[in-house]
Amino acid sequence: MSRYLLAIDQGTTSSRAIVFDATGTRIGVAQQEFRQYFPRDGWVEHDAREIWDTTLSVCRQALARAKIEARQLVGVGITNQRETTILWDRASGEPIHPAIVWQDRRTTSTCVKLRADGHEDLVVERTGLLIDPYFSATKVAWILDHVDGARVRAERGELAFGTVDSWLLWNLTGGRTHCTDATNASRTALFNIHTQDWDDRLLALFRVPRALLPEVRDCAADYGRTDRQWLGAEVPIAGVAGDQHAALVGQACFEPGMAKSTYGTGCFLMLNTGERALRSENRLLTTLAYRLQGRPVYAVEGSIFVAGAAMQWLRDGLGLIRHASESLAHAEQVGVENPVYLVPAFTGLGAPHWDPDARGAILGLTRDTGIAEIVTAGLQSVCYQTKDLVRAIQNDGARLETLRVDGGMAVNDWVMQFLADILNVTVDRPAVTETTALGAAYLAGLQTGVFSGLDDIARLWSCERRFQPDMRPALRESLYAGWLDAVDRICNH
Ligand code: G3P
Repeated sequence: MSRYLLAIDQGTTSSRAIVFDATGTRIGVAQQEFRQYFPRDGWVEHDAREIWDTTLSVCRQALARAKIEARQLVGVGITNQRETTILWDRASGEPIHPAIVWQDRRTTSTCVKLRADGHEDLVVERTGLLIDPYFSATKVAWILDHVDGARVRAERGELAFGTVDSWLLWNLTGGRTHCTDATNASRTALFNIHTQDWDDRLLALFRVPRALLPEVRDCAADYGRTDRQWLGAEVPIAGVAGDQHAALVGQACFEPGMAKSTYGTGCFLMLNTGERALRSENRLLTTLAYRLQGRPVYAVEGSIFVAGAAMQWLRDGLGLIRHASESLAHAEQVGVENPVYLVPAFTGLGAPHWDPDARGAILGLTRDTGIAEIVTAGLQSVCYQTKDLVRAIQNDGARLETLRVDGGMAVNDWVMQFLADILNVTVDRPAVTETTALGAAYLAGLQTGVFSGLDDIARLWSCERRFQPDMRPALRESLYAGWLDAVDRICNH
């Protein structure tokens, strides 16, 4: 009998659902974009109801396209945009404020003050993160301080906080499960990654009442069952991980030293460091790779806020292209020696700069600069930013010889070759580039016995194309020097 797994991938710009079989083959997929709200400079919000509605709708569509019924599913896995913060009323299930998205910078001044007051060491030591508006903690406090009566109600236990996984779990189970997994918890800045528990000193520092918090479980665990009204059957929810952690699992990076880079809205590079939580000296994050059977495996992560979103901006904001795939023709025309640099710091800069006030710029314009050069610069910016991360990783003493890539932009051969060239690292693209959803399915499959262990999963990974570095060192250095100069001009050091 066939055994199917349903993966929910709730991302920053769209909700997706994919039905996989037990070999990791995609059987049915559905995707729906939803609205982005930018109420003020640096603010980014989602409607939590729309997140739930689109998620449910893509689950139903994916099942229909796979031509299977929910009772044929062995389990559901959830993966999600991380850090995005939702608070809701436990009694009504209604959100008390729009979701504050991970890219949102409204808590910059709070972070500046916390850093000035000397709290960063404590946060780094316990969470592996830095003090930055990116993480959930200051977003939770902001909602508690700005919604009438919220703080009092939170202390009375009437409200629930969750990242998007928790919100979906709550809704899918008809309000029966208020949980999260260790990887999503590790992105809140409230979770101690060494003790694997919410941390009272951090809760006090960020002024977040414990009564708000979900229970933290392993990535493969019993998360309850979907309420019958949603999919027509009660299906076990058996896997949960933040999207970048799920991608690491989907890429089968299970050995220390293995790394992946995912090109979605942003770009997130993660290197497995095994049972050791390495503290970066170069402003990378220490995070959980995954936690299985109570055992945490750690990773270092470099987070770039804008990757695919730059192409989206060139398409929707400037109208320079009609579809992201048109960028390839522009890049082939311009070539790698493009004098134009686009620094897409629309919501500040992430790792390794961590400058929430930086804003984007296009530099190197001349009278003959055209659409092709600007679009190519957009593509190249993703590779240059990845280079910033790889340099930081190498300066931390880690070796990186091969990078496994996935996500929307990984299908672009020109970008992947330029990436290998500029990094001087081999880039491997797997047969399945939808590794985020695949990772969620794998986690649910581990819990439900579809897979007997990580080795089973590692055997399913296969390389579709390998990109070898092939650029003169002098050219690599001069192109990258141009990028560093461009970043220097917009950073507030
Ligand atoms: O940390 C934010 C990240 O999880 C968002 O991922 O794929 O929606 O860009 P993505």
